[in-house]
Amino acid sequence: MPLFSGKPVFVTGTGIHLPKRVLTNQDLEKMVDTTDEWIVERTGIRTRHIAAPGELTSDLAYAAGLEALGSAGLKPENLDMILVATNSPDTLFPGVAAKVQGKLEATRAGAADLQSGCTGCVYALAIATAGIASGLWENVLVVGAEVLSSLINWQDRNTCVLFGDGAGAMVLSSNPAGALARILSSDLRSDGTRHDLISFPGGLVENPTSPNTLEENLHSVQMKGNEVFKFVNQALPGFLRESCEKSGLEPAQIDWWIFHQANLRIIDSVLKRLQVDSSKTFVNLDKYGNTSAASVFLAFHEAYAEGKLAPSQKVLITSFGAGMTYGDIILEMQGGRHAEK
Ligand code: COA
Repeated sequence: MPLFSGKPVFVTGTGIHLPKRVLTNQDLEKMVDTTDEWIVERTGIRTRHIAAPGELTSDLAYAAGLEALGSAGLKPENLDMILVATNSPDTLFPGVAAKVQGKLEATRAGAADLQSGCTGCVYALAIATAGIASGLWENVLVVGAEVLSSLINWQDRNTCVLFGDGAGAMVLSSNPAGALARILSSDLRSDGTRHDLISFPGGLVENPTSPNTLEENLHSVQMKGNEVFKFVNQALPGFLRESCEKSGLEPAQIDWWIFHQANLRIIDSVLKRLQVDSSKTFVNLDKYGNTSAASVFLAFHEAYAEGKLAPSQKVLITSFGAGMTYGDIILEMQGGRHAEK
């Protein structure tokens, strides 16, 4: 059963942080053989934010985490755990979460990174929820943060037009005071037989850094875009329908669908297969591109800030990515800070 039991778990704060520099499709036209028209038509992306030299994933994660803590009305010392979902850590080790913990001076908190492709965000939220529901933790900061621009081959038009940098965060708590949402259920999957669809092959155990790995461009994101597109279209609709049913809901009872912001065509085609109207989804990939493990945090934060998510509405957050992993988490919106007034 994907429904959580144990103590109820609430989202009590959110935050985001984006690097200042904006890279437009017109800028990309000058870098690779592409056009604004092609990118918009195939992906829906118009701009993306790119970190400045020296601006690290841990810097973005820290800024988003600090904003989320403020919005939850918590101090760093209230945190029991910090989980950072990322595929572009500053270094393989130490992890980003440990640096965030140190910068925040969250002296009572543990810290760990979670790497599971773009789905890392949903995995981290599910693990944080399980930790609070079981009584292990009371307050957990969950962050999704990426500086994928450092891992992209900027001469490869198949990938460089898709990704962007950014960070988003949520605070999960056992205390319902001022809660934005309550977490109801989660469902997580993986099909590791398709691990070749998205990868970053160079520089580690399988392909230690060598002149060959540099020559063959293995130190950059490799993607079979068309096969990813087909995989997601095949796997996601049935999975989402099933996890709604296991949570006692019909897809029609979900008020808002917050998708991983990878590609507008994927979102539209999955919704079509679920017979859900596109007015029930929130899209900001046009501004930010695919920010991988950060994307659903950015989308949830902005949808909430724009007043779209009303109390008692059901929200399904779903992501997919390298692995191939996929998953979802279902929330019920609460009164938030307004309920306290
Ligand atoms: N500009 C112009 N042409 C491009 C291009 C670009 N940026 N990128 C690829 N092309 C070309 C290809 O080279 C190919 O040319 P050819 O027919 O001469 O060989 C043509 O466009 C079609 O390529 P294809 O890969 O079949 O296009 P597509 O319709 O599948 O769109 C993606 C490509 C990447 C946009 C699409 O497959 C996709 O979105 N996949 C999912 C990717 C994703 O979401 N990944 C992240 C998951 S977390």
